[in-house]
Amino acid sequence: MADSREALKEEVRGRINIVDVISEYVALKRAGKSHKGLCPFHSEKTPSFTVSEDFQSWHCFGCGEHGDVFSFLMKIENLTFVEAMERLAKRAGVELQRFEGGEFSRKDQLAKINALAAAYFCEMLKRVSVAGDYLRDRGLADETIQQFRLGYAAPAWDGLSRHLTERRINLSDAAQAGLVIKNDRGGYYDRFRHRIIFPILDIQARIIGFGGRALGDEQPKYLNSPETPLFSKTRSLYALNFARKAISEIGHAIVVEGYTDAIAAHQAGFVNCVATLGTALTLDHIGVISRYASKVVLAYDSDSAGMAAALKGAAMFEEAESDVRIARLPSGDDPDSMLHSGRVSEFGSAIQNALPITDYKLRMLIEGADLSSAAGKAAMLKQAVRVLADVHTAVEREKYINFLAKYHPNFESGTTGAEGHIRRDVDAAVRQKSGATGRRAATGGAAPRLGSAVEKAERAVLRVLIRGEDGAGMIVQSLSAEDFTGELSRAASSAAFEMFQRKQGIYLPDLLEALDEKTGGFVSEIAMLETAAPVNETVLQDYISLIKNQRLRKARTSSVFAPYMTEGAIDPETLRREGSAKEYEEFLRKSGRKPGEQA
Ligand code: GTP
Ligand code: MN
Repeated sequence: MADSREALKEEVRGRINIVDVISEYVALKRAGKSHKGLCPFHSEKTPSFTVSEDFQSWHCFGCGEHGDVFSFLMKIENLTFVEAMERLAKRAGVELQRFEGGEFSRKDQLAKINALAAAYFCEMLKRVSVAGDYLRDRGLADETIQQFRLGYAAPAWDGLSRHLTERRINLSDAAQAGLVIKNDRGGYYDRFRHRIIFPILDIQARIIGFGGRALGDEQPKYLNSPETPLFSKTRSLYALNFARKAISEIGHAIVVEGYTDAIAAHQAGFVNCVATLGTALTLDHIGVISRYASKVVLAYDSDSAGMAAALKGAAMFEEAESDVRIARLPSGDDPDSMLHSGRVSEFGSAIQNALPITDYKLRMLIEGADLSSAAGKAAMLKQAVRVLADVHTAVEREKYINFLAKYHPNFESGTTGAEGHIRRDVDAAVRQKSGATGRRAATGGAAPRLGSAVEKAERAVLRVLIRGEDGAGMIVQSLSAEDFTGELSRAASSAAFEMFQRKQGIYLPDLLEALDEKTGGFVSEIAMLETAAPVNETVLQDYISLIKNQRLRKARTSSVFAPYMTEGAIDPETLRREGSAKEYEEFLRKSGRKPGEQA
């Protein structure tokens, strides 16, 4: 079984171009022999994500994530191995009969039940006029209703339950999909009743869950699917399946709070819009969005809850180094209410003129202040100083100080006086803040360690070996894993030597599979680094002898045995194998060990 799984993986990898698959998620540009792009697994501004066709592998030099085409798909789509295999095998045209990966994907099973339910809700929407009327009253065109597969759940307790049972669906499975709920008597009843249904699709267009809006004033106004193996509110974004292309093309995403906001935005042409599902923005959401663009505009309701949520979400985006802005909608509006009433260009300008966090906060302070009195201005400035203390650079703070000067009482007698006063207050606030957090910041971010000559030699030799370049044969003949001193390079070379012997060559994805996470990252990085200098035969010889020679030297300074050894002595294992018998006996006597006993 293990063998056939390996063989199948190799066959699928061989038939698929890893660059094609990854290109569907990451904009890749050719760079030398590999392709580069912005890493989809961490947020970055310069590309350190590298894909190699030759090695059928990917590696991010920024975050260290790496792997083959299977692990990429599993990570980016949150799939199990079986699911990734199903997809890639289909793409490669490889029959899966031989694949005994156990269970047919549970998630796909739930998605199928959801699809049946969605079709049923759509059918009900066509049959029940109050539901269609409601959506049309809200300004949704028939095409929009179809595109978003909107539906209707009737008031009955068992409409969907019966429908699914007739289609031989086990209601306990439907319960796991969150569509029905078990009652006290062991039966099941429908979760969604007398509600407009919004199916939630993932980016493969699988239906992963539903939102249901009450048609009248019933509570809750919105009812969502519970968390299921397929559905997580804190990870999913509504309409992302429609928006993701546009987000990468346009270069930014619009994030809104509600289903109806997202739908109205798409209908009005803002097709780069996604919505959260009634939860606050999470780091998972931010990770998903930053796969497609590093810029984002939050267009939240203009009430105080919406503004607070926008500021909180924006701070998270900023932390993740996204360019985040907050749109200011007219008081009392949300995107849906603006677009529904035909204020499309006004909404467009709100997106266009969205403000960075600091500008947004200052604007709110100014709008909320009583600027007719000196006391009102002073109170506003006092709060503004606190806002500016959060701005990271002095250059940026200066820009805002300049802007705020006109609200200072000294302004009329000369701006410099006003700016000077504000600057002094801001500097004091910054100092106070950095006093609280400075110590932590000072110890963070260790400088990159410069490797020794031996480390460098070991890496260079490993690279030739792993990449199967000229000279790999010579390395296999002259070195063994014990010659490597670094813990990682020893583990890596050991696996590589073993594979070389067995397969007469190195196949990187298989090698990575055989290694633990840390060693794998080390090997992947060494193999994929494009900028490493090529190693000719003479240099390789030098590296090999450096590695061989340093082994004894290293042994002499081994700290584990230091208490028992005179300066320059050799570690017991080496002594036993190749050192002098006299020295070894001396060591045993001094340390009270028996022959062969390990430290
Ligand atoms: P409409 O009133 O239909 O226009 O909805 P809205 O989008 O304006 O609603 P609101 O701003 O109140 O809520 C935004 C989002 O929060 C909704 O799309 C839901 O996802 C979620 N939400 C709102 N009310 C509830 C609720 O009562 N329960 C839950 N779980 N989620 C809710
Ligand atoms: Mn609304």
